[in-house]
Amino acid sequence: MRTVVFQFPHRFEVFSFMHVGFVGLGRMGKHMVLRLKAHGFRVAAFNRSAEKVKDIEKNGVTGAYSLSELCQKLESPRVVWIMVPAGPTVDEMIERLVPHLAKGDIIVDGGNSYYKDSIRRAAQLKAQGFHYLDIGTSGGLGGERHGYCFMAGGDPKAYASVEPMLKVLAAPGGHGLFGPSGAGHFVKMVHNGIEYAMLQSYGEGFELLKHSSEFKLDLHKAAHVWNRGSVIRSWLLELAEEALQKDGHLERIGDSIGGGSTGEWTVQTGIEQKTPTPMISTALNARYATRQSESFAGKVVAALRQGFGGHEVVEKDGGSIAPTPAVGKTKKGKP
Ligand SMILES: NC(=O)c1ccc[n+]([C@@H]2O[C@H](COP(=O)([O-])OP(=O)(O)OC[C@H]3O[C@@H](n4cnc5c(N)ncnc54)[C@H](OP(=O)(O)O)[C@@H]3O)[C@@H](O)[C@H]2O)c1
Repeated sequence: MRTVVFQFPHRFEVFSFMHVGFVGLGRMGKHMVLRLKAHGFRVAAFNRSAEKVKDIEKNGVTGAYSLSELCQKLESPRVVWIMVPAGPTVDEMIERLVPHLAKGDIIVDGGNSYYKDSIRRAAQLKAQGFHYLDIGTSGGLGGERHGYCFMAGGDPKAYASVEPMLKVLAAPGGHGLFGPSGAGHFVKMVHNGIEYAMLQSYGEGFELLKHSSEFKLDLHKAAHVWNRGSVIRSWLLELAEEALQKDGHLERIGDSIGGGSTGEWTVQTGIEQKTPTPMISTALNARYATRQSESFAGKVVAALRQGFGGHEVVEKDGGSIAPTPAVGKTKKGKP
């Protein structure tokens, strides 16, 4: 542990902090490491594929090619920040780290883990003498430049130990301890649920503009204008403005939306709490719909409408079947 004085644009702050280790140099981990490095922190980093370790070493970061090497390169009490996909990978990383840690060391899970997993992991690690902090991270790729947002859960003393690092990584005021283990990832899960509904809302709005045949609207112009003083201006809308400037109708982007875990957990939590989440649920379902090449529900509804009302059914090859006069007839008119 050492004490360092940092000069921020308008103030000096004195930090006592630990040398920090990172596991995972993906889109998030790499930029977080670089931001810490740029602020004078000593960082050691491990990544599953060695090329990313070699690459980060070029920036003055201490590379580690195994988890044991990473732990050897850290001063005790160690802080190891894991930034890998949620689920079994986090459990695997913890299991492989533990033999190389000493009592009192702190593991931070900065990924999008399910909060119930974080509660379980914290209890298991506490029984072995380690601290576990669940620190949900927001800010995306822009975080390296503008600062991240951190939503933490866990032991207040362990949190105090890593707070100097959070202050450097976060946008001003963009970090907080929300309660015991799980609270951080719970708050991050709800944050992501909100994000689902916001994204879907922007998507639908721009689709309405695009399909307005009578006005032939300039979508980039709408985003540009909305971003200046309107109620719906936001970073997401700035990203829409940027994307539409490059490609006015997003011709080069497919319409299938990935992700889903945090949205599913948010909706599931709403069901468990009996708290209505209609917007978030709809946004989640809208994502599922984008992944279907065809809708079987659509086929069923079309078949039933044809059955009860003789309504037109579009054939798979693109042709259409005229409304059938007699209920119960198939497309070839046979019973
Ligand atoms: N991207 C975002 O905007 C964002 C924002 C907030 C939070 N998060 C969360 O932050 C975490 C990391 O996200 P990311 O966007 O940085 O992901 P990413 O770019 O896909 O990187 C994933 C990292 O995890 C490693 N990894 C993947 N599977 C592994 C395994 N089985 N064993 C060991 N290492 C493995 C990868 O190593 P390799 O290089 O060897 O593949 C890579 O370093 C996730 O929990 C994500 O949900 C992401």
